[in-house]
Amino acid sequence: MACLACLLALAFVAAEAQQMQSNISQGSSLTPTTNSTWLSRSGLYAFGFYRQGNGYAVGIFLAGIPQKTVVWTANRDDPPVSNNATLLFTGDGLALPTAEGQNYLVSPSGSASYASMLDSGNFVLYNSGREIVWQSFDHPTDTLLPGQRLLSGNELFSAKSEADHSTGIFRLKMQNDGNLVQYHVDTPDTSAYAYYSSLTDGAGENVTLYFGADGHLYLLNRNGTNIQNITEGGLPTDEGKLYLMRIDVDGIFRLYSHDLKKNAIWSVEWESSKDKCVPKGLCGFNSYCVLIDLEPDCRCLPRFESVNPGNQTSGCERNFVADACKNRNENFTYTMEKLENTTWEDSSYMSLRLSDEDDCIQGCLEDCNCEAVFFDGTKCRKQRLPLRYGRRDNGTSDRALIKVGVPTKPDTDPRIVQPGSKKKGRTDILIIGLSFTALIHFVVDFRDCVVVNGDLELACIRMSAVNGDLELNESVAPRRYAYEELEKMTNNFKEELDRGASSTVYKGLILGSQKPVAVKRKD
Ligand SMILES: *[C@@H]1O[C@H](CO)[C@@H](O)[C@H](O)[C@H]1NC(C)=O
Ligand SMILES: *[C@@H]1O[C@H](CO)[C@@H](O)[C@H](O)[C@H]1NC(C)=O
Ligand SMILES: *[C@@H]1O[C@H](CO)[C@@H](O)[C@H](O)[C@H]1NC(C)=O
Ligand SMILES: *[C@@H]1O[C@H](CO)[C@@H](O)[C@H](O)[C@H]1NC(C)=O
Ligand SMILES: *[C@@H]1O[C@H](CO)[C@@H](O)[C@H](O)[C@H]1NC(C)=O
Ligand SMILES: *[C@@H]1O[C@H](CO)[C@@H](O)[C@H](O)[C@H]1NC(C)=O
Ligand SMILES: *[C@@H]1O[C@H](CO)[C@@H](O)[C@H](O)[C@H]1NC(C)=O
Ligand SMILES: *[C@@H]1O[C@H](CO)[C@@H](O)[C@H](O)[C@H]1NC(C)=O
Ligand SMILES: *[C@@H]1O[C@H](CO)[C@@H](O)[C@H](O)[C@H]1NC(C)=O
Ligand SMILES: *[C@@H]1O[C@H](CO)[C@@H](O)[C@H](O)[C@H]1NC(C)=O
Ligand SMILES: *[C@@H]1O[C@H](CO)[C@@H](O)[C@H](O)[C@H]1NC(C)=O
Repeated sequence: MACLACLLALAFVAAEAQQMQSNISQGSSLTPTTNSTWLSRSGLYAFGFYRQGNGYAVGIFLAGIPQKTVVWTANRDDPPVSNNATLLFTGDGLALPTAEGQNYLVSPSGSASYASMLDSGNFVLYNSGREIVWQSFDHPTDTLLPGQRLLSGNELFSAKSEADHSTGIFRLKMQNDGNLVQYHVDTPDTSAYAYYSSLTDGAGENVTLYFGADGHLYLLNRNGTNIQNITEGGLPTDEGKLYLMRIDVDGIFRLYSHDLKKNAIWSVEWESSKDKCVPKGLCGFNSYCVLIDLEPDCRCLPRFESVNPGNQTSGCERNFVADACKNRNENFTYTMEKLENTTWEDSSYMSLRLSDEDDCIQGCLEDCNCEAVFFDGTKCRKQRLPLRYGRRDNGTSDRALIKVGVPTKPDTDPRIVQPGSKKKGRTDILIIGLSFTALIHFVVDFRDCVVVNGDLELACIRMSAVNGDLELNESVAPRRYAYEELEKMTNNFKEELDRGASSTVYKGLILGSQKPVAVKRKD
């Protein structure tokens, strides 16, 4: 439930002035602040402007319940419009005038003479002969409403985030082979990339996903035969019961119900997976998904670090120098670190029949192209980075072994800047004890020193000034720590947003003292 609850709690400013009107005639218009929507007859659904980011989007939402819920968005990937926009209904459809001309959000197949926001949630354009020339039910985004279908060849795309309805990273496709399948957006439609399937491959062309008025989800083939029930059956259809189906931001598709009489929140009736680590691609490259209290968490491979902390899909990268065939780096020794009970996409370039783990390890260490191996007790499968679709699975005895570089001598750890050294790598760490403020500050790359507060700004200016030779004033004498030491001392850092900058600042308390530590990481 958690997921939709927060989605629905999203700050949602619907316009105050609304028109209760079942037939919308040519020449009608809407603006974000006055006459912002056209309501359905009962007032349950509204078509028009809703708040999105720092402006407005045009779409359909449930207006008749306390938790306003967006079910469709026009041109969802267009930037939000400002409050001076006007949506105009003409025979050619619905358009927003812009400096470049009309931006059509809805283009009917024939001339539209009137439109109607129906109580089903379908927004329909009719010609003068009362035939439908366009309907929102034919253009679903991430949601299906009762009575709506997903035709063969069509797909739903998740939203980017709970507050941003533009296209996200997961999709649900009604394939031409009859199979209903979930994938990441950046993959081909093949089973290796699927993370959900109705297992109806081969059921023929024109299989359609139906969402019945009673909230029943099922597949019909071209002659109308029910070939698969996605949900077990129909649900109560008492007055005041609402249903919707959506592929959520987290990649799982869920059937929700809402009881108007009980003034309740949306609750989950059914979901494609209870395990939130199932959607492939939730965690980025070189990271794997672990469930903690049923919530997914992305972890980096050992001795890797997050590319962009706070964004799980950005993945992880090495914090050591990679092994090389020529010019092997004498400052590192390479060993294999074990990750038990994990599964990954297998894209091995070589698979050896080996039953001894040590032989598998040795085989990778001696092969400078080898960056990881998967070992299952009988096969040793050599991999190159990046690894993807990783997740912990206690049901497997498979393990991943990752080749990692360990500094030969602590002093040559390139992540530590030594006084007098001019070497400034991307992962340099410098700590400065500021005796006059009792603050300790270190930056991962001091060329990117960012103001955290007044005190630290001073430290940064001084550092920049002495950047070249690191002749630091005594009061800001540098002290060296290994990153791991700091991680321990600060209890793994707490993440904070850096005001005004796009980068991430980590803050933690040194255990046993009240001294705050701030870390700026280059993005
Ligand atoms: C809407 O327009 C159609 C076709 O002109 C008409 O049949 C219907 O009665 C109208 N409905 C209302 C509520 O005006
Ligand atoms: C809102 O629309 C109604 C009906 O079309 C119209 O009478 C009214 O003047 C409009 N209000 C504003 C502020 O444009
Ligand atoms: C709306 O206002 C913005 C600036 O706030 C301006 O750039 C734009 O041209 C205006 N659009 C219209 C349709 O007036
Ligand atoms: C599938 O549906 C399309 C459009 O409705 C139709 O043109 C096509 O002939 C159908 N194919 C089959 C095999 O029924
Ligand atoms: C309808 O589809 C079912 C299942 O694929 C098939 O067994 C049946 O023969 C079909 N009927 C017709 C009339 O095509
Ligand atoms: C689907 O469920 C309905 C009852 O809800 C049942 O009549 C039908 O046989 C089921 N279809 C399949 C393919 O299991
Ligand atoms: C997270 O990272 C991915 C890949 O680097 C990027 O496409 C996406 O826009 C980022 N998301 C956010 C919310 O910054
Ligand atoms: C190894 O470290 C030494 C001293 O820090 C440095 O001079 C040398 O360039 C490093 N070697 C490589 C291959 O990076
Ligand atoms: C791996 O799974 C087995 C059970 O299948 C369990 O006994 C073992 O503790 C797990 N190892 C880790 C590191 O989770
Ligand atoms: C897997 O095993 C680890 C260690 O034994 C445990 O902490 C974790 O909760 C288990 N996860 C699941 C999903 O059972
Ligand atoms: C070092 O700091 C002290 C006190 O802040 C100051 O008086 C002195 O001039 C500084 N020395 C250098 C070399 O910057």
